[in-house]
Amino acid sequence: MKAANEKTAYLELADDLQQLIQSGSLRVGDRMPSIRQLAHDKHVSITTIQSAYEVLENRGFVEARPRSGYYVRPRVPASNRLPAQPESSRKLSTVERPDLFDEVFAAVNNPDIVPLGCAVPYDGFYPTAKLASLSNKAFRDHGASALRYSLSPGRIELRKQVSKRMLRSGATVSPDEIIITSGATEAITIALSTCCKPGDLVAVEAPTFFGILRIIESLRLKVIEIPVCPINGIDIDVLDEISDKHPIKACVVQPNFQNPTSSVIPHESRNRLVKLAQQRDFTLIEDDLYGDLTFDNDRPTSLLAHAGGENVIHCGGVSKTLSPGLRVGWLAARSGHAEMTAIKNISFTSNPTVSELVVASFLADGGYDRHLRRIRQRYQSQVLQMRESIFKNFPEGTRVNSPRGSFVLWVQLPLQVDCERVAHEAMSRGISITPGSIYSASKSLTNYLRINGGYPMDERIRQAIRTVGKLCQQQLYEKA
Ligand SMILES: Cc1ncc(COP(=O)(O)O)c(C=O)c1O
Repeated sequence: MKAANEKTAYLELADDLQQLIQSGSLRVGDRMPSIRQLAHDKHVSITTIQSAYEVLENRGFVEARPRSGYYVRPRVPASNRLPAQPESSRKLSTVERPDLFDEVFAAVNNPDIVPLGCAVPYDGFYPTAKLASLSNKAFRDHGASALRYSLSPGRIELRKQVSKRMLRSGATVSPDEIIITSGATEAITIALSTCCKPGDLVAVEAPTFFGILRIIESLRLKVIEIPVCPINGIDIDVLDEISDKHPIKACVVQPNFQNPTSSVIPHESRNRLVKLAQQRDFTLIEDDLYGDLTFDNDRPTSLLAHAGGENVIHCGGVSKTLSPGLRVGWLAARSGHAEMTAIKNISFTSNPTVSELVVASFLADGGYDRHLRRIRQRYQSQVLQMRESIFKNFPEGTRVNSPRGSFVLWVQLPLQVDCERVAHEAMSRGISITPGSIYSASKSLTNYLRINGGYPMDERIRQAIRTVGKLCQQQLYEKA
């Protein structure tokens, strides 16, 4: 679904300038108008022009020359520098906990570690003051009952707001079709528990978010990996072939800004994916935690919006937009609510009422859209700068994803680089990064890294990127 066409000024400007380059009005080698002059002529801020030039740089249309400005460059197809799609092993396997998992997790709240590991944004981006005032309001309005357990399916105020938000992703879902969970993690756990029993086979993306693999491990399920294209997401042809040969019970998929590749399944392929699940009778468990973080305000759809949404369980939440610590997530599906509620009740993980009330108020009138516009702009600028810095400091032949939303960088290094070793060595220098092997059930992808781009590019982060780049270079020298 195309959301309201509210493109930000710098993206519009980037598109206009790109048009001038593509039409030949600005030719290779031409100097682009100076930032100051263009800001004056267009009556916009210098930051807007800088952001527009960064977008053009990332798209490969211009290059920055120190102390001279931006110049039109010969076109380098962006795809040349994107990570490759992994091969499909087509093997069934179990999932084992990787060695580095606890170390990476422990680093999240340690201020002495440079936080390039877990996909957690800078604390300063959370709307803390507004959340605090909404929390006060919750206690004023509800008194001690704000401290109670919130029992499944969760507060109706919140389910109504989630139902309204789901319209932005093209899906009409009634509050009765929604269950509030403790983060997206619990939503995915309940969804998998509903359609699988221990030993059943689940299709997962390769690479995929390591948390999904941990859930699968804890439920004692078997997996088969489906490769993810760094642009178009899960390879539906391979899923078609595999689901024809094997009795898969579910497929866990992230259609929107997939973690770690940031890929997005093309709109026109989504009907096919949902129909495939309906035809082969497996459940598509959609993890849509990053969909709201699109850079161009054009929020991609939920799979629930396609082919009637049967066989789809949508999992969402506010961990990447408002706060991971509030622990507010949700499930939405066309059927199976009684069973999902029963599973949630058995685990006895009722939700904090106050978190539900605060998120409900924020979504109702806390300025959620304004907040999203602000953080999307920041993340876009950060990942552009970080991508550039990686190309500058990492070995030749390094490839990096080019996110159109969210804030993670997926980096492919030359084959000789052992990224688990890089991650260990980086940790001993106070830098957390995650190696590609933890994003795959088969622990392959040994020459990949994921880098968190959720922090402003200050000198500490720049220095950490330089250090990680050196660690990678060192391995190449050793092996040369
Ligand atoms: C793709 C994806 N799904 C789920 C989660 C977990 O979300 P939550 O913190 O809401 O449980 C994360 C967290 O990083 C994630 O990246």
